Amino acid sequence: MNLSRRLVLGGGFASGAMLALSPSAFAEKKMPAWHAGYATAPAKGFGPAPMKLISGKAPAGLSGALYRNGPAQFRYGDAFASHWFDGDGMVHRVAIQDGKAVHTGRFVQTNKRKQEQAANKFLAAGFGTNPDPSFAVTGPDDMNAANTSVLMSGGEMLALWEGGSAFRLDPVTLETRGPKTWRPDLKGMPFLAHPKREPDGRVWNLGVNGRRVAIYRISPQGALEDFGMIDIGAASYIHDWTMSERKLIILVQPWIMTASRPPFINSFDWRPQEGLKALIIDKDDLKKTRWAQAPARSFYHTGAAWEESDGTIRLDAAFYASPVFGQGGGATEINGTYAGDEGEPSKLTQMVIPVSGDAKLVETKLSGDFPQVDPRRHGLLRRLTALVGGGAPKRPGSTTLYLHDWSSGDSQTYDYGVDYMVEEHLFIPKPGSTN
Ligand SMILES: [Fe+2]
Repeated sequence: MNLSRRLVLGGGFASGAMLALSPSAFAEKKMPAWHAGYATAPAKGFGPAPMKLISGKAPAGLSGALYRNGPAQFRYGDAFASHWFDGDGMVHRVAIQDGKAVHTGRFVQTNKRKQEQAANKFLAAGFGTNPDPSFAVTGPDDMNAANTSVLMSGGEMLALWEGGSAFRLDPVTLETRGPKTWRPDLKGMPFLAHPKREPDGRVWNLGVNGRRVAIYRISPQGALEDFGMIDIGAASYIHDWTMSERKLIILVQPWIMTASRPPFINSFDWRPQEGLKALIIDKDDLKKTRWAQAPARSFYHTGAAWEESDGTIRLDAAFYASPVFGQGGGATEINGTYAGDEGEPSKLTQMVIPVSGDAKLVETKLSGDFPQVDPRRHGLLRRLTALVGGGAPKRPGSTTLYLHDWSSGDSQTYDYGVDYMVEEHLFIPKPGSTN
């Protein structure tokens, strides 16, 4: 899958397949149908409103709420965001019960959004957009779009971004309560958008500020249990990371911030000669670390890791041969034009880290991203990884779900067809089931 297909839908959820917003909800004049994924949502949000079943039938016994977050403000008048990671976050809630689904969507009311809504234009620099270089930025939260993912913690829904604070929302109404401060002295500390939850509910996460990386340990009840800082030696771009039962694993890719040149993406240089490094940290003692070296790869997302009895660590990730973000960031698609193929796709890969010596990369044939694992097996030996990939001619976005079995090497494929843009799929265990 290439960059142009790594779509973060403004609508936030194409994965349900059976459930859809009315097409007019995201309709924009003179844009191709696929542009629904880049449309700007109404400022007041959506719903709560019943969703229409468009095919099949709802799985019996499935009840709960699916939350999604994604950028949903891509334009003010004739001005478009120039990267799809920019644009204010809208959190969606799809409440599912008795075969029916109710959708609610609300923008996260960050300081950035409030100022830009009042001015009716983009102001703050972002990942790949720099609308007004004169706009004063006093800290990362001035640029915080809270648009990347969600975490349920301590009865609150947190809207996450990677460069600044998490934002607290009411989990039912999605009303914004304000930035999350884990501890008074950690106000404004970055909190990555890919926290990891152990099967018992404990959450770990990182916060990245150049080469200094914060480590959070959060109880199942949402309280900060431990916090540490570690120096990873280089200001590598870190969007995601991984962990096993006993170790945190930070993959330090050779895409390194060498200067401060807003927008953010312009500050990074690709240095493949330095390879991909893995920093392995003991969960029980954050000072106990070791490094392993692998060939150069770029990545955004990992699946999860597990450790074998001899200490070998295996992890899965979607690896690119080189970073492709600088090539456009969906700027043309945001404007309604499909730019076409954008380079070598990412491959589902297993990284094998021995107790000593270099790590080895075992590539599958599957091109895709957003690897997901069964939450009951996170950090433990497991067989399966789901990811999305594929694509259709003349439009961006993924079309296909893959399920890879590491024990057999086989994979299953489900193709949604050209009329769907497919997002990451989540494993949802049936209550009481171990299957
Ligand atoms: Fe991500």
